[in-house]
Amino acid sequence: MDKLIIKGGNRLSGTIPISGAKNAALTLIPCALLTEEPLTLRNLPRLADIDGFQHLMTQFGVSTEIHGKRPEEFGRVVTFEASRITSNVAPYDLVRKMRASILVLGPMLARTGEATVSMPGGCAIGNRPIDLHLKALEAFGAEIELTQGYVKASAPEGGLPGGDFDFPVVSVGATENALMAAVLANGTSRLTGAAREPEIVDLCNLLTAMGAEIEGIGTSDLTIHGVKRLNGATYKVMPDRIEAGSYACAAAITGGDVRLEGARAGDMISSLAALRKIGIHVEDDAKGVTIKTNGALKPVDLTTAPFPGLATDMQAQLMSLLCKAEGTSVLTETIFENRFMHVPELARMGADISTEGRTAIVKGPADLTGAEVMATDLRASMSLIIAALAAEGETQVRRIYHLDRGYERLEEKLQLVGADIERVGDD
Ligand code: UD1
Repeated sequence: MDKLIIKGGNRLSGTIPISGAKNAALTLIPCALLTEEPLTLRNLPRLADIDGFQHLMTQFGVSTEIHGKRPEEFGRVVTFEASRITSNVAPYDLVRKMRASILVLGPMLARTGEATVSMPGGCAIGNRPIDLHLKALEAFGAEIELTQGYVKASAPEGGLPGGDFDFPVVSVGATENALMAAVLANGTSRLTGAAREPEIVDLCNLLTAMGAEIEGIGTSDLTIHGVKRLNGATYKVMPDRIEAGSYACAAAITGGDVRLEGARAGDMISSLAALRKIGIHVEDDAKGVTIKTNGALKPVDLTTAPFPGLATDMQAQLMSLLCKAEGTSVLTETIFENRFMHVPELARMGADISTEGRTAIVKGPADLTGAEVMATDLRASMSLIIAALAAEGETQVRRIYHLDRGYERLEEKLQLVGADIERVGDD
């Protein structure tokens, strides 16, 4: 297993290209199940999770063709063609490795009238249920059966009628599953209290390009008029707002000056607002976002919330940055319980952070020092890299397969802006 070795202290400066969004890609790929025609996705990031999802699609009989791009180029173009679906079962072995596999439930049910997906297990950032995914599909007329660790969803003869569902909690994944099921329903469906993250807008835009009829895109009140069939499309995956936000924190903690090429400020409103409050200078234009630092970092109080609130996926990275702010910051996590696993690892690097329930109190500025640390989940791992970039001496980050799930060629991108980081085989 590889590890990353980072020598802290270099000021980051230059340009980082932002990749296609992992979380958007993971809901755009299953849209291929909704049509017999080819779906071509451009700007797909090269990540373990995306490879895993492609593999899952082949399991259903979907052909995938990767178009030529030189290995040194970012982004990938892949055509998925589900002209015939040979299986509608997502087996345990694949789902266990990738929770997002649950996103095939809605589109598979809509296309074939039946879908069987292994229940995703618990995960490191809390016990993530799927009850809302199932309740939304039931509201559309599906019958749900739970047997031997599998969810089996079936539509009545002639397809899903469609229906209304009001989300009691905002759920990104459940909104995506519901949308992908409703587009081919016989009638009109309405989703209220729906998630309105930029990745949901990306999904709606693709579905619309495929011929779906959706009203209220970008709001939490979506009306979907089911259509008989959808066509293929060619679509470019949106830029990854969490990757961009992570590199913004990396630049800021080193007192750097970094251009995030391709990042869309409109998708990052709350993260950029947080950075500005911390005292970072942020400029944005149509082609990217630029982060500049001058002077001391200020402490802030931040609370995660569904979009347009502060993304929970940015909490750990901002916490590392706030270790260097002059004073006490309070970070409150409202989306997931148990999402402070980076705290003990940051403490090993000299951070002064205490937690109480869903709140973390960060006292700065801390003299961070390099240490051997363990990555626990994707974003927590990134927070350790950010701290390491500003730490005195060398940090070794182990279990970096977490990072490979979500950051395309992380060390290469950080090297581009002057970080001293390398990947070595673990002993
Ligand atoms: C997605 C993102 C993840 C991000 C999260 C919140 C992907 C692949 N992952 O995850 O990176 O951190 O959104 O922005 O896009 N909940 C239920 N019942 C359900 C579903 C969710 O109670 O059926 C709860 C969860 O426990 C959590 C909250 O709803 O407390 C939000 O979760 P959700 O938005 O569904 O997260 P994911 O879609 O899994």
